[in-house]
Amino acid sequence: MGKNVLRNLKLTENNHNVMIYQNLWKQWSSCGKIIFRKSKSLQQSHFISQATGMGRFKVYVTHPNVPQSAIQLLQESCDVTVWQQECPVKRAELMTQIKGKDALFCLLTDKIDKDVLDSAGPDLKVIGTMSVGYDHIDVHEVKKRGIKIGYTPDVLTDAVADLTVALLLATSRRLFESHNEILKGQWGPWSPLWMCGPALKGSTIGMVGYGRIGRATARRLVAFGVGRTHYWGRSDHGDPDNIGAKFCPELTNLLAESDFVVVTCALTTDTHEMFDEKAFAVMKPSAVFINTSRGGVVKQDALIKALETKQIWAAGLDVTTPEPLSPDHPLLSLRNCVVIPHIGSATTQARTEMAMLTARNILAALNGEPLPAEIK
Ligand code: GLV
Repeated sequence: MGKNVLRNLKLTENNHNVMIYQNLWKQWSSCGKIIFRKSKSLQQSHFISQATGMGRFKVYVTHPNVPQSAIQLLQESCDVTVWQQECPVKRAELMTQIKGKDALFCLLTDKIDKDVLDSAGPDLKVIGTMSVGYDHIDVHEVKKRGIKIGYTPDVLTDAVADLTVALLLATSRRLFESHNEILKGQWGPWSPLWMCGPALKGSTIGMVGYGRIGRATARRLVAFGVGRTHYWGRSDHGDPDNIGAKFCPELTNLLAESDFVVVTCALTTDTHEMFDEKAFAVMKPSAVFINTSRGGVVKQDALIKALETKQIWAAGLDVTTPEPLSPDHPLLSLRNCVVIPHIGSATTQARTEMAMLTARNILAALNGEPLPAEIK
């Protein structure tokens, strides 16, 4: 104790191996913190053990409102630093705080790119994002450095599917518009066609993206007596839930035939602004467009025009560009557009499970174990 011990170990250029060795070394020596350095020329790694305490891993958490159970789980074996202000961490602060950390617990509001990774330095072993979407992370840059990425699929599927159906009903049945009419003193005597909208019963549903959330949404819509469900995505999944869903290989056909277009796909370079002037032009004038994926899949000016000119009937959006939207944004003054503030997974249960899964992903990576949910 108190004296530096140098161990030279031949390793592959792989942070994962380094973590395993760090853990073994910690358990074996129990004499403190390990500092890891890479020798670029020799492709050789050196471990220096220093007697500086218990050598706990360091984790940075980018938001103060992460459910406490997840923070406690991390604190059992790690030193945890949490950003304290009630807003996403400022980029400059993130760049400073991430230096020398072993793990980052982040949110979809944190852009994790080359500059952030360069600031982190070689200690960073895992990034756990408390989200199912990961378009805010430069996965290629992360992987290049041998850093693991954990995310939170499954635990939020039901919450987002429920919200997607709620948004679909709120939009087609004009809930917010009706409510606003009351507030404006416009609620007159009951009238046969006032506040009517399209019914789900017998309608054609066009799912764009048929992953976990898309499928869970389509399953729920069966209970409303929809007539037909078809989907477009990267591949033909058949009809995995036996609800009569069919793959539609041509997006244009799906858009032209659907009464409700429901978007749940991931934002990638392929899906970026895929809903543009051309896409809205082929939709029915009676079509309802619902988006619970990411604002970036929509060319927003084209959507505003399509709604203003009644090229499509209405839109319901849980996601926009940018987020948050300012209260005077043109989308918010359209009668036929329902906007809610990215609350798809916002049930207490889902958010707690997302936080716990993120913590478990981080701990697994730090312990050299398989992550419960890893982006490969
Ligand atoms: C929410 O949008 C998520 O990606 O979890």
